[in-house]
Amino acid sequence: MSLPLDQDIPLDTLLSVATDAARRGGAVLTECARTGFHIEHKQSINLVTNADHQAEQQIIDIIHAAFPTHAVLAEERGLTEQYPSRYKWVIDPLDGTTNFAHGFPAYCVSIGVECDGRGMIGVVYDPTRDELFTAQISRGAYLNGIPISVSATDHLDRALLVTGFAYDIRETPNNNLNHFVRFALKVQGLRRTGTAALDLCYVAAGRFDGFWEVTLNPWDMAAGVVILREAGGTVTDFQGAPHSIYGQELVASNGPIHQAMLDLLQEDPAHS
Ligand code: IPD
Ligand code: CA
Ligand code: CA
Repeated sequence: MSLPLDQDIPLDTLLSVATDAARRGGAVLTECARTGFHIEHKQSINLVTNADHQAEQQIIDIIHAAFPTHAVLAEERGLTEQYPSRYKWVIDPLDGTTNFAHGFPAYCVSIGVECDGRGMIGVVYDPTRDELFTAQISRGAYLNGIPISVSATDHLDRALLVTGFAYDIRETPNNNLNHFVRFALKVQGLRRTGTAALDLCYVAAGRFDGFWEVTLNPWDMAAGVVILREAGGTVTDFQGAPHSIYGQELVASNGPIHQAMLDLLQEDPAHS
């Protein structure tokens, strides 16, 4: 039996469900942070907690109650797609798990919605600051309902950048330490917050001027790239080619410093 493909759903309806799910996921994280949680090791330095799983379950329940036929790609559960669907929800229930496990208050819930492969909605919720970043395609980006936009910084030496390191940092030579060293000597400041989704939102809000990372997953980026683009930012791969959340590299910036970031990332280490 073949099912009809999903009809168009208003962006406001998608945003409302994504926001509800992100806030409910955030409430689970807050409650687990208050009452305690269990930590398991996926790999040597890659942790997961029962808070990740519980938040993910809540989020998926809310999405499936509203849209039972939609596909869901969630970090801990993987892809759930009962029927071919035009819509895919891409979820990181806890971005910043290492921070969360240590009680360092920099983590969030990240929910992106794709239709026909295109990012339409981004919602990132930081429960420790009660900051909700939202965007709908072609309708701008917002922080707690107030419009946000990227910075105007146009030189690396006045830029505050952020990056991150993947969990295979010990196993691969492509571990971003080379880029980190080069940027550290060129910029005003360089940070590593441990939450890629918030890093993207902070570039969108002008708190950072640029962000790059070598090995990210779709759930780290799906929401944040919609928010960044809607805030006027630029996002590409390391070659300057169009960004896909299904690739791994990401260079995100306010625009004016983008080429300088690409130039530095492409520098031949032998000549730097
Ligand atoms: C990680 C964070 C971190 C980034 C890693 C991600 P997780 O996600 O976003 O900032 O550097 O590459 O894997 O494991 O905390 O959801
Ligand atoms: Ca993540
Ligand atoms: Ca995660």
